[in-house]
Amino acid sequence: MKGKLYGIGVGPGDPGLLTLRAKEAIEAADAVVYPVTEPGEESAALGIVEQVADLSGKELVEALFRMEMSVAIRSGHRAEAVDTVVRLLSEGKDVAMITLGDVSIYSTYMRINDAVEAEGYETEVIPGIPSFCGAAALAKIPLVMGRESLAVVSAARDMADARTAIRDFDNVVVMKAGKRIGEIREAMEANGIPVTGATVMHNVGMGDEYVGPLRDGDYGYFTTVVIKKDTGGKRE
Ligand SMILES: C[S@@+](CC[C@H](N)C(=O)[O-])C[C@H]1O[C@@H](n2cnc3c(N)ncnc32)[C@H](O)[C@@H]1O
Repeated sequence: MKGKLYGIGVGPGDPGLLTLRAKEAIEAADAVVYPVTEPGEESAALGIVEQVADLSGKELVEALFRMEMSVAIRSGHRAEAVDTVVRLLSEGKDVAMITLGDVSIYSTYMRINDAVEAEGYETEVIPGIPSFCGAAALAKIPLVMGRESLAVVSAARDMADARTAIRDFDNVVVMKAGKRIGEIREAMEANGIPVTGATVMHNVGMGDEYVGPLRDGDYGYFTTVVIKKDTGGKRE
């Protein structure tokens, strides 16, 4: 009997934002696979889950995804994670692979899902609340209204997509923005957007969260910036 893989989004940080469906699937699984960027480090995703789900008796297995720009190293990590998951499934274990926020937003999970399905195993995807939706709720701002547009971009590698989006879209979510605060401010100024249109969302739901105006500095990895042009929903 083969096991089944569940890819589960656990929300941005507040354990209260883990869905009931996610909790059920995690508690029913035999093994929980969680992401780390260094061996043995604390996992933000596991930290959320263990506050609200009963993990007793489960195999807890880390999957290493180093913060690497090298495509070869990143695909090596993915291959190792797939091997780990397939080994557990072949032992007849149901596996919950957890990821921060939602599995469809800048997560490596869907590639693992495809590879595991290609090996002949059943999978299911359980969505989570994306970090920028959790943060927008805390900031009490709409991400998009009326006839406005919204772009979601990553500033991990460079600012090219963010600059284009800031120029062309009514609202922009810049993810992986921690080291780009100064460049985001410059791109806004270059397009005549007041800096008050930006909200920084750092470590949302993680204890030391900051949700507020854009202030210069290096905010660290869990940082998202939402930029809004004042279109009033394009005056609806
Ligand atoms: C690899 S992506 C994962 C995104 C995640 N799957 C989601 O749905 O939000 C990591 C980026 O998500 C954002 N992020 C994740 N958790 C966050 C949090 N608690 N507070 C602020 N930003 C967060 C940051 O932009 C971070 O650099």
